[in-house]
Amino acid sequence: MTPEKYPVSMRLMHWLMAICLLGMIASGWYMSGLDGDAPNKYDLYPWHKSFGVLLLGLILLRIIIRLKSTLPEIQNTIPGNEQMLAKVAHFLLYALMLLVPLSGFIMSDIGGRDIYFFGIPLPDLLDTNKPISGFFHTIHSYIGYVLLSVVVLHIAGAMKHRFMDSPENDVLKKMM
Ligand code: HEM
Ligand code: HEM
Repeated sequence: MTPEKYPVSMRLMHWLMAICLLGMIASGWYMSGLDGDAPNKYDLYPWHKSFGVLLLGLILLRIIIRLKSTLPEIQNTIPGNEQMLAKVAHFLLYALMLLVPLSGFIMSDIGGRDIYFFGIPLPDLLDTNKPISGFFHTIHSYIGYVLLSVVVLHIAGAMKHRFMDSPENDVLKKMM
């Protein structure tokens, strides 16, 4: 039988990662905007990297859970074009949740920077190459903000179905 809600594991992952991801975008934006000689410039970097590596692990686990789960159906009262938009947005969110931390990891590792996971040093996997690190820095910055834009669209969609549609189109109750 098709469940009415997402499985508990997916709901927990969804809300836990949503909070962490928004914190990561805010911390990344704040710390990279500080002047190079600001005394607190590098205070947040180890936390940003540690939570980033944690999120990289969590998104891999989340994709596995997603592939093994039976999901609730999309309400067929929702117009086809909106169903399609939601599917595209969800696919993009998964792709970006994977690519943003991966690009951050590659940028730091290939840039010759140490990466600690909450104090534990991680192995240096890639040979240092500054120009390639610069390329991944650009990728990391841009797609971090693309992720934020898709999240804003995603929240707007959830709010529209909850407050502007008929009650049977409410998708939020499946994720609560
Ligand atoms: C989902 C996880 C992550 C998100 C959402 C995220 C997001 C961001 C954002 C939005 C910025 C600001 C970019 C800018 O304005 O230039 C940033 C900067 C940065 N991120 Fe991440 N990041 C994540 C994971 C990681 C990981 C795993 C690492 C490395 C292990 C990392 C290393 C960095 C560094 C070093 C900066 C500062 C770059 C600079 O000083 O210009 N990030 N991140
Ligand atoms: C960083 C923030 C967020 C990310 C990355 C994110 C990501 C996702 C993803 C990937 C799905 C698809 C689940 C699947 O079918 O596999 C989803 C579903 C959902 N999300 Fe989010 N989400 C975020 C924040 C939010 C917020 C703040 C809300 C509510 C205001 C929300 C409401 C929902 C709802 C209602 C669904 C179910 C949609 C449906 O079944 O049609 N999300 N989210």
